Amino acid sequence: MCGIVGYIGYREAYPIVLKGLQRLEYRGYDSAGIALYNEKELKVSKTKGKVADLKKKMEQEVDTSGTLGMGHTRWATHGVPNDVNSHPHVSNSGDLVIIHNGIIENYETLKKELTARGYVFHSDTDTEVLVNLIEDVIKKEKVKLGKAVQIALTQTVGAYAIAVFDKKKPNEIVVARLGSPLAIGVGKDEYFIASDASPFIEFTNNAIYLEDGEMAVVRRDKGVKVRKIKDDSLVDPYIQELQLNLEQIEKNNFDHFMLKEIYEQPSAITDTYRGRLLADEGIIRMAGVDDNLERFLNAKRILIVACGTSWHAGLVAEYIFEDLARIPVEVEYASEFRYRNPIINPDDVVIAISQSGETADTMAAIKLAKEKGAFVFGVCNVVGSSISRETHAGAYTHAGPEIGVASTKAFTTQITVLTLIALKLAKAKGSISNTDFHMHLQELETIPQKIEVALESNAHIKEVAFKYKDARNCLYLGRGFNFPVALEGALKLKEISYIHAEGYPAAEMKHGPIALIDEEMPVVVIATRKGHYEKVVSNIQEIKSRQGKIIGIVTQGDTSVRDLADHVIEIPDTIESLTPLLTTIPLQLLSYHIAVMLGKNVDQPRNLAKSVTVE
Ligand code: M6R
Repeated sequence: MCGIVGYIGYREAYPIVLKGLQRLEYRGYDSAGIALYNEKELKVSKTKGKVADLKKKMEQEVDTSGTLGMGHTRWATHGVPNDVNSHPHVSNSGDLVIIHNGIIENYETLKKELTARGYVFHSDTDTEVLVNLIEDVIKKEKVKLGKAVQIALTQTVGAYAIAVFDKKKPNEIVVARLGSPLAIGVGKDEYFIASDASPFIEFTNNAIYLEDGEMAVVRRDKGVKVRKIKDDSLVDPYIQELQLNLEQIEKNNFDHFMLKEIYEQPSAITDTYRGRLLADEGIIRMAGVDDNLERFLNAKRILIVACGTSWHAGLVAEYIFEDLARIPVEVEYASEFRYRNPIINPDDVVIAISQSGETADTMAAIKLAKEKGAFVFGVCNVVGSSISRETHAGAYTHAGPEIGVASTKAFTTQITVLTLIALKLAKAKGSISNTDFHMHLQELETIPQKIEVALESNAHIKEVAFKYKDARNCLYLGRGFNFPVALEGALKLKEISYIHAEGYPAAEMKHGPIALIDEEMPVVVIATRKGHYEKVVSNIQEIKSRQGKIIGIVTQGDTSVRDLADHVIEIPDTIESLTPLLTTIPLQLLSYHIAVMLGKNVDQPRNLAKSVTVE
């Protein structure tokens, strides 16, 4: 959580840092701040609220000149979101400036020691402790900033991506990372620091992604020197050419990133299977699976670990893997798995799913599984992310940047990757017939076009949204492959509209939730023709007899549900295991429209952040 950005070079830093913060705002948005140095003065401006509030404040109060600058957009961990707790933080001497994404867990001990030595603290943050610790090391050890940062970090416990400068040495920024991402954009006589590459994409295509445990001194005149924090050894940095383009990180003509990302799903899924799915030849190519096929085929079981929406994709995968590949699957919340002393065997395959590739709980679950000797396979969207590097092998979803905090295209592309893996294993094991295998491949290829058709219901879904926007609660029901979709639909509604919603397997309703149903309760029922259709129709009857309002997600041409439901939303027909890729679409649109009608901030829902890098 939190976004950090910095610039050192020959241009004015302010517009670059400000724009960078706007692009990183998905990482946290409860307060923001910028520090600028213009060879004469250090200016620090910070405020509770969003980057737009900071912009207003800075344009009124501050001279924004300077070719050295740093900014921060915050998701509060230590200390409430207010002006004082916002970053950047300045050391007691007024010389050192820091921005930080992460948590210093032992900050209270360090704070006590520094207080005893006369340091004064103005905020409740761990970050202010760190900047003064660095200052203390400079004074005590008589070392330069880079060395002081290195020594100070060895005294900390926790996670960080930091950038620090000393206004008395304005030719360098020192950065370091452990557990939080940090990229250095390398231009000609200019350098950029950021939590991801989006703040500098229009200036340079070259980036160095620091590895965990590395730090770098970035000098305006002399370039970047990377070393390991622990043993001081120099590292030859790998300069990566970025694939990102500006269009991917702009809203274009959409009102919100979430809507843009919903509409991107046909092309995102095509990108996911491009080069992997060769339907006519009957081949699925996935290097990460091909190279480790024996591990997968010899696995006694597959354990899936993930959080939030990615966990829901894992649940869909459980149905698909067991149905097609006949391999037992267990799906775990990473946050539970990491602390519950789970049984992990060396012949288990663990699949970790994460859009951001930075989720702290998923990362910890991976480390635990590796310690126990399991083979860990990552399904990530963000290329080069921590999880993609920590896993033994993996497959990217290639969904492109997902900026809306509510996950949409990440979910459907995760399911696509997992389906490809399941089909590949099923073929290798002989648990699927040739005819079925080919049919699945052909059908998978048609999904993007079928999503386009599902998206055509947008206007109708908006009308339905208008009818239920004032509901206090909402139930989502589905069975089989679509039970996890019901969970995901409920999560989407909760997180962006703040309406209480629950997802249930349709048949579980009679074991409790049915008591909630009355004429006030909208119930979204996924009732596609393939997949326990008659049973679900019976469940709909039960809701109807209790005056619940029924919104049916049905297959095109359905009549039975139409007769019973208050509204139906149609999706094209497909094979049962692929229905989640289509049934998800109307649920995403329904939540989106309700949230917009309620005036909520769809892309930046309250209290949330896109990558949850704290446990
Ligand atoms: O980046 P990850 O996929 O690991 O993130 C996991 C969850 O934090 C994420 O899916 C979250 O639940 C989304 N806000 C859901 O829309």
